Amino acid sequence: MKKPAILVARAIFPQTLDFLSQHFEVESNQTDEVWDAVELTRRLNGKAGALTTGSERIDGALLQANPQLKIIANMAVGFNNFDIPAMTAAGVLATNTPDVLTDTTADFGFALLMATARRVSESEHFLRAGKWTKWRYDMFAGAEVHGSTLGIIGMGRIGQGIARRGAFGFGMKVVYHNRSQLSPQLEAECKATYVSKEVLLKTADHVVLVVPYSAESHHTIGANELGMMKSTATLVNIARGGIVDDAALAHALAGGQIAAAGLDVFEGEPVVNEALLKVPNVVLTPHIASATTKTRLAMAQLAADNLVSYFTQGRALTPVNQVAIMG
Ligand code: DGY
Repeated sequence: MKKPAILVARAIFPQTLDFLSQHFEVESNQTDEVWDAVELTRRLNGKAGALTTGSERIDGALLQANPQLKIIANMAVGFNNFDIPAMTAAGVLATNTPDVLTDTTADFGFALLMATARRVSESEHFLRAGKWTKWRYDMFAGAEVHGSTLGIIGMGRIGQGIARRGAFGFGMKVVYHNRSQLSPQLEAECKATYVSKEVLLKTADHVVLVVPYSAESHHTIGANELGMMKSTATLVNIARGGIVDDAALAHALAGGQIAAAGLDVFEGEPVVNEALLKVPNVVLTPHIASATTKTRLAMAQLAADNLVSYFTQGRALTPVNQVAIMG
């Protein structure tokens, strides 16, 4: 029987490609260029499925040009690159990669919080620039992490992982804000207390953002919210670009309105707001929160397993929409 044709839109692990080749006719992106909409639409021609990353936008126009498409498996837990209503209307199944990256991403959230509060990047740059000539009592004095108040906005699996690390590893008082309050049991497991966004911003020493991107969460943190935060506070964004108004943040950092920020995601990434590049009190990383070899392999494998499961059993393992499956 002829194998279904699929597109792998970006470079992935060779072993994942080998696995996919056992089940599919695979066209893969050998150069790892991020294809624009025109090229992606053209490459999808004749393909029944695709493996994408967060860099590929799947929208109505692309789906209209490829009515043969059945499934697109995103190698990411976030899927804001997918127009889900358009995919559902076109009968195209969307899948993501939850769970396999939860702890790795929570680890990184904590790493970024520590690096930001304790001024790791700023002090390393100082040392590398040959500026370290003597010890000084207040040199790179940062904010305390243990015993401080951790505020988490977005209390899904990753947010809960960060709460556990803060509460049990660092004796932090954890407050959170989320669309819905967690069950009393989960709150107890995370040692976390539900508060309004305003109370969180006003009381937290460290604010970590783990909320999915949507029209509603756009600029969850802007000038107004930054104005509510303590002048000693740190802000960490491992969620998505666009959750923070990056221009407003750069302004707040330059003016000392908050102490520091740690950012793994950016509005318009991979381009980074020039003003952010100029302020010293921000730690910047290139969207690597889930980047351990083990976790990225697990994400690629889950995306591949979703494709195989769909074509062999008519159902995906981790779907994010519901479509009628044609036989
Ligand atoms: C995710 O899984 O959503 C990460 O941000 C990687 O893209």
